[in-house]
Amino acid sequence: PTAALVRGPHGLALEGVALADIAAHQGTPTFVYSLAEIRRAYGAWRDALAGRDALVCYAVKANSNLGVLSAFARMGAGFDIVSGGELARVLAAGGEAGKVVFSGVGKSEVEMRQTLSAGIGCFNIESPSEVARLDAIARELGTRAPVALRVNPDVDARTHPYISTGLKNNKFGIAFDDAFDLYRDAAARPGLRVVGIACHIGSQLLDPTPMADATTKVLELVDRLAAAGIALEHIDLGGGVGIRYRDETPPTIAEYLAPILARLEGRREALHFEPGRSLVGNAGVLLTRVEYLKHGETMNFAVVDAAMNDLARPALYDAWHEVVEVAPHGEPQTYEVVGPICESGDFLAHERPLAVAEGDLLAILSAGAYGMTMSSNYNTRGRAAEVIVDGNAMHVVRERESVESLFALESRLPE
Ligand code: LLP
Repeated sequence: PTAALVRGPHGLALEGVALADIAAHQGTPTFVYSLAEIRRAYGAWRDALAGRDALVCYAVKANSNLGVLSAFARMGAGFDIVSGGELARVLAAGGEAGKVVFSGVGKSEVEMRQTLSAGIGCFNIESPSEVARLDAIARELGTRAPVALRVNPDVDARTHPYISTGLKNNKFGIAFDDAFDLYRDAAARPGLRVVGIACHIGSQLLDPTPMADATTKVLELVDRLAAAGIALEHIDLGGGVGIRYRDETPPTIAEYLAPILARLEGRREALHFEPGRSLVGNAGVLLTRVEYLKHGETMNFAVVDAAMNDLARPALYDAWHEVVEVAPHGEPQTYEVVGPICESGDFLAHERPLAVAEGDLLAILSAGAYGMTMSSNYNTRGRAAEVIVDGNAMHVVRERESVESLFALESRLPE
């Protein structure tokens, strides 16, 4: 899955840096990201949209490390945020508020004030109540909030049910049939400036057809709105493009966009996209060390120092991540790759042939998206360190959490 991963004389390397060197300097578990891969992935989006008025808003939730965000900011990306916290990260990383879109069903008043004052580019609104709340806050602040309605096109994204968001029965977006009336309501409010429409149907999409179908529905609505005097400036078609974890054959970005762009032929609105996974997923690996090999009666276990608190996707979605030896050792045997956490669900991979000895390093691939951002401190485990490699250089972009920091905000009961 990761082109920047190469096998050299010192075992696996990401770009020009041996993973063994990173483990020696930073310890394990550590997330390691390739800057070249991030640039390549962003370049694929930019190239496929060349010549168009388009903004790629990186979905911060996929990987919100400041180092990663700063790379996107320097390439001119916009950002898709889902909290005030994510906006603070974007600004700290050098991102431009004007290129930020704010998605999410539960924006709080505090978050609306913060993001509106910062001057973000667009609020993607998900309910009538949110229209009313944002209008009131904007008036109070003496401004007009730029808004798009996130509509729910009711198409089946054909992905994992937990990450499918475009169907009628889930909590996201505004029902397609209600959108027109809500647009009229929003357009009449002095605290709002209606600027766009947004749509995101799910994640890890392997087929461009559902999003192309959704685009057709969205355009029909855009035209109806224009006829009613509500002219939109931009169309935001969300994120969701899948990546290869195992043997999936996701479309290239150009292939994914082709049927969508075909439907947009000759239109004047600007385009926004909100990709996350396809920009960072295969740019990262989780580097971990084998603590113990346990040979049971029916199964062999490789107990590693990374766990479900570091990479939740296998436990949460039964997701498959490739596991490779940094430097193979002896004959392969079949292992369950598990972490030290006290839960049977704490596995990273099932039934993998691995040639390993205790103390060896393993790389868990495709861990650049929804890895660190979904990690926790369960079992009072400090979260992993994060490193970005750039050619032969290695930048520590997040130190490993110390144990003291994990309970620094807590206190004993008074005596
Ligand atoms: N825009 C919106 C409104 C979203 O909800 C999402 C992701 C994205 C953009 C970015 O989607 P992407 O391009 O990354 O597919 N934790 C899950 C994925 C959850 C996705 C949530 N929304 C996983 O690990 O697979």
